[in-house]
Amino acid sequence: MRRTVSLLLSFAMVFALTACDKSAVSEKQVEVQPFVQKTEERSETSQNGTEAAKQANEEQPNTGMEMETSEFVSAGEQEADVSTKTLVVYFSCTGSTELVAEYITEILGADIYEIIPENPYTEADLAYYTNGRADQEQNDPNVRPAISGGVENMDEYDTIILGYPIWHGQAPRIISTFLEKYDFSGKTIIPFCTSHSSGIGSSANNLHALCPESVKWSDGKRFEGGASKESVEEWIGEIGIE
Ligand SMILES: Cc1cc2nc3c(=O)[nH]c(=O)nc-3n(C[C@H](O)[C@H](O)[C@H](O)COP(=O)(O)O)c2cc1C
Repeated sequence: MRRTVSLLLSFAMVFALTACDKSAVSEKQVEVQPFVQKTEERSETSQNGTEAAKQANEEQPNTGMEMETSEFVSAGEQEADVSTKTLVVYFSCTGSTELVAEYITEILGADIYEIIPENPYTEADLAYYTNGRADQEQNDPNVRPAISGGVENMDEYDTIILGYPIWHGQAPRIISTFLEKYDFSGKTIIPFCTSHSSGIGSSANNLHALCPESVKWSDGKRFEGGASKESVEEWIGEIGIE
């Protein structure tokens, strides 16, 4: 009887030890599981990386390498953003210049920035030949209406396509504010305008003096209100910008 009891006890101990060991393995599997999932996720999302980078990623143990890999991917994404080198800048109060600016942006896949006055122009401000705000500003070449906000990464752009409405034959004074606000040295500026009937005339040439001499100015182009996308495409083709 004693032998039977001790035999039974031995079996019970062996069983208990085996069960302990199994629970340890399943805990390890739970720990490993998130790493396996992350590896799969990364291999789907790391298309920006090279094949070698992908392989290295999958072969790495679950260490700090995980962090380095996501940094690698996001650096690639940042590079893609920086590759846009043309910025379309425009000022528009009633939408005509904005329309052309949006067409240019779509055609070129460029970035766009709207010059927004700190003190917005009301309808009364824009009523011309009334000696209203816009009339008064255009009469004084030294006026610099303040701009709200700005372009933080101007140094990343090498070409600026600059659009404005013609106000009494000239660019609105807020365009002068914009040109004096940044260092455009070595950049290309391509002006365009919209108007009721006037051509671009001297409006663009009069802006040259506000920038360093190293700025390369292209000839300007005037569009009518409600310009078609085709007319904008034609102009983009003529100036040969991509
Ligand atoms: C103060 C002021 C002056 C203007 N002067 C002229 C002008 O000299 N010649 C012209 O053809 N249109 C003139 N216009 C009309 C605008 O150039 C035209 O409506 C322009 O397309 C408006 O652009 P936006 O809608 O982008 O503001 C003037 C408009 C304003 C408000």
